[in-house]
Amino acid sequence: MSNTEQTLSIIKPDAVERNLENEIKEMFKNKGFSIVKDKKIQIEKSEAEKFYKVHETKPFYNDLCAYLSSGPIVVMILEKENAVIANRELMGATNPKDAQEGTIRKKYGISIDKNSVHGSDSSENAKIEIDFFFKD
Ligand code: CMP
Repeated sequence: MSNTEQTLSIIKPDAVERNLENEIKEMFKNKGFSIVKDKKIQIEKSEAEKFYKVHETKPFYNDLCAYLSSGPIVVMILEKENAVIANRELMGATNPKDAQEGTIRKKYGISIDKNSVHGSDSSENAKIEIDFFFKD
């Protein structure tokens, strides 16, 4: 049975700053993702805190939220068969040091914080994260 779904992707400040937006979008398109919607924005730290609320008890929460709001980001709705898992595969491991060849984080990630992209980790969170940025 087909399972076309949508997921949220963010090109993080480290990648936008290095002008990698188009290269990263090409990697998604080459893997068969459609970019249904996209926008370049900069968010407030308070919005990053809401977005990453699941991590609020983690020691890296404050730095993570400061970082996501530190510069422009590109938020995208990606669509494809099994988009959530396919996006996680294409992004690679959270820490670029552990990421496989051919993944976005292996190619462009700098560190576990500056790992160039975020992607929803489940179908349920994909809906919540898409609404977070694109609900009008
Ligand atoms: P992301 O997929 O955006 O989700 C949460 C982010 O926290 C993660 O990518 C990392 O960039 C960041 N992070 C920083 N330190 C850690 C850590 N020790 N474990 C997991 N994520 C971390």
